[in-house]
Amino acid sequence: MENEIKKTVFSGVQPSGNLTIGNYLGAIKNFPRFSEEYNTFFCVVDLHAITVRQVPAELRRRTYETLALYMAAGLDATKNTLFVQSHVPAHAELGWILDCYTMFGELSRMTQFKDKSAKNAENINAGLFTYPALMAADILLYKTDLVPVGVDQKQHLELARDVAMRFNQVYGETFTVPEPFISEDTMKIMSLAEPTAKMSKSDPNQNAVVYILDTKDDIMRKFKRAVTDSDCTVRYSPDKAGVSNLMTVYRAFTGKSFEEIEREFDGRGYGDFKAAVGEACADGLAPVRAEFDRLIADKAYLETVMREGAERAAYHARKTMSKVRRKIGFVN
Ligand code: TRP
Repeated sequence: MENEIKKTVFSGVQPSGNLTIGNYLGAIKNFPRFSEEYNTFFCVVDLHAITVRQVPAELRRRTYETLALYMAAGLDATKNTLFVQSHVPAHAELGWILDCYTMFGELSRMTQFKDKSAKNAENINAGLFTYPALMAADILLYKTDLVPVGVDQKQHLELARDVAMRFNQVYGETFTVPEPFISEDTMKIMSLAEPTAKMSKSDPNQNAVVYILDTKDDIMRKFKRAVTDSDCTVRYSPDKAGVSNLMTVYRAFTGKSFEEIEREFDGRGYGDFKAAVGEACADGLAPVRAEFDRLIADKAYLETVMREGAERAAYHARKTMSKVRRKIGFVN
């Protein structure tokens, strides 16, 4: 199964908050396409999640759920390395090391840090600040070539590249410099209530966010209430953020192009359109939901997947770490 000639893909999802259709369409749904051609690592990044205060029982539950969602979305545990970040201590270890090769100024420019510190003014901890260095560690541990992420992670990816190149410059070729993979359909899904802001799992307005595990009724209701405009034509345009966002969701679930969608709803009102988007979304998520329900009922199986995934990941991580330690000058 493992093949030195194959390139490597790594990505991670935080087990914080319930996952949204933004997480699904922007990341998870695209992961299985890499399984055959790449060595793939998909990680549940619990170390990242604690940069924001978590309720312990919920963090634990969501860690299982995120793993189950990976699998429900089509990732086969025998073809992909699926694991939990904190089960492989090398992430924290390389994270610390890379902190020492990441500049205060670089981290200060990260827009996610600025956003999150604005939202968590009472808990602007050092981990929130150095988050991107840990993310770089995740990626660099596995000689990753390609990182499929949503557009919002592009800046972090660039930082990971800069850190890798900086380290290589000082110590000679050590890390593979990763490329982001941000495809057409790893698009950004916006809030249904405020379509100029990203759909966020931590949004206090529950109507703004569609969760992967929402019931069909919830999904239909949320799309019905989605903010649009007073123009009443289904057309993709920068000045029609609400409608364009719904079209993006519809396109993702149906495979239709924007022009086809415009034609389909020509002369029809937003009511029809929103109902169609709701149907398409609910239908698209139904099989994921069914498979998720089946998997989440079997904790023992999920634990086996986690354990085997962590063993496989640790094997690769150990190789990178011994090289890094030697280059830095740590005594073996
Ligand atoms: N920061 C990513 C996010 O919030 C999650 C993440 C952590 C990640 N480590 C990663 C994504 C490594 C890709 C690769 O979406």
